[in-house]
Amino acid sequence: LYIINIAAEMAPVAKVGGLGDVVTGLGRALQKKGHLVEVILPKYDCMDYKRIKDLKVLDVDIRSYFDGQTFANKIWQGTVEGLPVYFIEPYHPAKFFWRGVFYGENDDFRRFTYFCRAALEFVLQSGKKPDIIHSHDWHTAAVAPLYWDIYVPKGLDSARLAFTCHNFEYQGTEAPAALAACGLNVQHQFRLDRMQDNFMHNRVNLLKGGIVFSNLVTTVSPTYAQEVRGPEGGRGLQISLAAHSNKFFGILNGIDYDAWNPATDPLLEYHFSSEDLLGKQKNKAFLRSRFGFSTGGPRSEKPLVGCVTRLVPQKGIHLIRHAIYRTLEKGGQFILLGSSPVPQIQREFEDIAKKFQAHPDARLVLKYDEKLSHLIYAASDIFVIPSIFEPCGLTQMISMRYGAIPVARKTGGLNDSVFDADDPTIPFESRNGFTFSSADEQDLNYALDRAVNYFLHRPESWRDLVKKTMKLDFSWDSSANQYVDLFKKAIARAVSRT
Ligand code: ADP
Ligand code: GLC
Repeated sequence: LYIINIAAEMAPVAKVGGLGDVVTGLGRALQKKGHLVEVILPKYDCMDYKRIKDLKVLDVDIRSYFDGQTFANKIWQGTVEGLPVYFIEPYHPAKFFWRGVFYGENDDFRRFTYFCRAALEFVLQSGKKPDIIHSHDWHTAAVAPLYWDIYVPKGLDSARLAFTCHNFEYQGTEAPAALAACGLNVQHQFRLDRMQDNFMHNRVNLLKGGIVFSNLVTTVSPTYAQEVRGPEGGRGLQISLAAHSNKFFGILNGIDYDAWNPATDPLLEYHFSSEDLLGKQKNKAFLRSRFGFSTGGPRSEKPLVGCVTRLVPQKGIHLIRHAIYRTLEKGGQFILLGSSPVPQIQREFEDIAKKFQAHPDARLVLKYDEKLSHLIYAASDIFVIPSIFEPCGLTQMISMRYGAIPVARKTGGLNDSVFDADDPTIPFESRNGFTFSSADEQDLNYALDRAVNYFLHRPESWRDLVKKTMKLDFSWDSSANQYVDLFKKAIARAVSRT
C-alpha cells in the first residue's frame, strides 16, 4: 500500500506527546512490512533539525488557497528515522509555523486548516496517487472534507481516507465562518450531519468533520473506543460515532522497539536487558547522584518511582502530586519529569519543586527533556500513571520495556495494557503492574503501596516480575497488521465519502 500521513507531530523532530511517537512508530512498522509510507508535516521553526537527514528544498511551485487568495509554499524533503517526510513552509504573512512553538497559538484553527489545504494541494500537484491518506487529531481533520469537496473534483481520487483520533478532548471548534478560509463551503458543511458541533450549535467542529468524512475512523485503544461511545468520553461526538459506528475501531498503539530499546538506546549511559539488569542498577545510581538523591545505607534499597508526563488535568494532576508524598511516606524516592502548557499548573509544580530542592528523596524537573526521559525510564523501579482518562498512553509501555513496573489507573489504553500483579483472574504471564480504579487518593495508595511493599519485601519475586514484564510484546507489529487489514477493507469498498 501507498500511505501518506498528514500530521502535526512526528517524533523525534516535532514531538509534543504520544501523537508524534505514533506517526513515526506506526509509519516505520508499516514500512518494514513493505508498504510505502510518507509523512507531510508543517515546517516548524522549532523542530529538531539535527534529526532530519538530507533536508533539501524541492523545485516545485505549490500555491494554495486561503482567505480568498493563493499563497506560495516552499516544499522541503528530508528523512526522519528512515521515513520520507515533506515539510510545508507557507509564504503567508501570518508566519503560521514560525512561532517558536508547535501549538497553543490563538490562531491554531487557521494555522492547521491552512496546512491541510496546502498538504492536499501538494499531493495533487505532485501527481501522487496514494491508496490511503491518513490524518490525525483535529489539526489535520479538515483533510477529509477538503478531499471530497475540493480535491476529488480536481482529480485527486485514488485514496481512501483514514482518520485516527488520539484524544477526544481537543476537537478544534470555531465560528462557522472560519471554515471558509481554507475554501470549505460553510453553508454546505454547517449541518448537524456534517461539521456543525453537536452541542454548541453556533460552532463548527473539525474533529467531527474527520469522523463524518473519513472512510475509516480509529482511536488508539479498544477500551477508549468504548469510552468515547458514551457522553463522558465522547464529549458530544458520541452522537457522530453512533451515526458512523460501522467504520469506527479501537486499535491499541504500540511503541517503536528500535527507538525504545534499553540494550541499544544511544541516550543511555548504561545498557541493559531482561537477561542482564546490571545496567539498570547503574542507571539508577547515575540518576541518583546526578540529582543529589541520598544513596547511603538503607537508602540504596529504596525503590525509585518515576513519572514522565505532560502536566494537564487528563493525567491526574492531584494524584501525581499525591504520589510524590505517598512514595516518600512509604520509604521510596520520586522523580518527576513534566511540563505544562497551563501556566497555573506549571507554577504549582514549580512551588512543589522548590520545596523538595534539598530533599534527599524527591526531585521535580519541570521541562521537556527527551534525554532525561530515557534515563528516568531506565533508572526507575516503579512508574506512576494515574490518568483521569487515557486514550492509549505510551509511557506505561516504555516503562515496562525499561523494567519499571507501572502503577496505573484502569482507564482507556492503560486498561488494555497494564494487568495487576495480584489479580488471580488474570493469567500469570500477563501480570505486569499494579492497577486501581477510582481517581482518588485512597485507590492510588492501594496500588502504589502494594508496588512499594512488593519491591521492599519480596526482592526475588520483584526481579522476576521485572524480567517477565520487559519481555512482553508492546511493539507495533500486531497493531500495524490491524491497520493494514482495515486499510484494505476500506480500499475494497466502493469510493465514497463514507
Ligand atoms: P500524551 O500523548 O497524552 O502526552 P503518551 O503517553 O501517549 O501521552 O505519550 C507521551 C510521550 O511524551 C512519551 O513518549 C513520553 O516519554 C513523552 N513525554 C511526556 N512529557 C515529557 C517530558 N517532559 N520530557 C520528555 N518527554 C516527555
Ligand atoms: C494522545 C493521548 C495518549 C495517546 C497518544 C498517542 O496524546 O493522550 O493517550 O497515547 O495520543 O495515540
